[in-house]
Amino acid sequence: MDYQWYPGHMTKARRMMQENIALIDLLIELTDARAPLSGRNPDIDSLAKEKSRIIVLNKADLADSSATDAWRASFEKDGILTAAVDSRKGSGVRQLKPLIDKACEEKLERNRRRGIVNRPVRAMIAGIPNVGKSTFINSFAGKAVAKTGDKPGVTKGKQWIRLNRNVELLDTPGILWPKFDDRTVGMRLAILGSIRDEITDEGELAVWLLTYLMEQYPEAIQMRYQTGVQDMDGHEMPALELLGKIAVRRGCLKAGGEADHAKAAKAVIDDYRSGRLGRITLERP
Ligand code: G4P
Repeated sequence: MDYQWYPGHMTKARRMMQENIALIDLLIELTDARAPLSGRNPDIDSLAKEKSRIIVLNKADLADSSATDAWRASFEKDGILTAAVDSRKGSGVRQLKPLIDKACEEKLERNRRRGIVNRPVRAMIAGIPNVGKSTFINSFAGKAVAKTGDKPGVTKGKQWIRLNRNVELLDTPGILWPKFDDRTVGMRLAILGSIRDEITDEGELAVWLLTYLMEQYPEAIQMRYQTGVQDMDGHEMPALELLGKIAVRRGCLKAGGEADHAKAAKAVIDDYRSGRLGRITLERP
């Protein structure tokens, strides 16, 4: 889905979230394992306060696993249960069920004490556009489920997927709007493809990304583009110069034979998004 976040859209998304959050006990928040903090909307903490929480680091197949471990530890330090998954392949998705049971324990126990025995715990998935919500729901709940309320004549409105005896999942995910007052956060979101490419110039994105890679993952540049990151005097090359070099290597040339930086920038971003540059996380806790 393509989203341009006009204030009207945000207000609507916020209203929907508020409405749905009122119905649930447990919020399963998806974020991108490559930028777990930038990929969250901080407003969720106030929207979902007093709810049980799980944070799922999705697209973990594209992220640096040591960074993913560090992120999980950092969220868990704040008392939030976490999982790292690849929803496309389904790996890691199975750890969610026991995690949900754990997150719901307290709620179920409280219900029991009050004599409420047949009321399942209700959960929903939420995250910013393109983080993988639909893929995750399919992988997580796709097969096993009989939907409640989707038969003709059954109450219209919210549909719940029965996950097991104790848990029901809202079948449509909540959409959170990305938030990027900070330019660096905006850069990360644009590189992930969470905000539309038009928002930021691709050349600028690629230069930002290459600068980050030179600092944190120079070997990735060497592996993919067979070029070092130093100039002939042994100084680190400016990222724009490196982009020019990559353009030549990759045959991104203009009619006159000079480097086509714009084309190379697209290629670099595409290489990153598809994982061809390796498993790279854009921020650390
Ligand atoms: P949304 O509902 O949150 O908007 O996201 P959606 O599930 O549509 O997923 C957005 C894109 O992210 C899809 O790629 C999807 O395949 C990909 N994706 C979701 N989860 C994972 C994951 O764990 N790992 C990886 N590598 N990719 C994931 P797409 O390019 O839009 O479509 P397609 O390439 O799958 O056809």
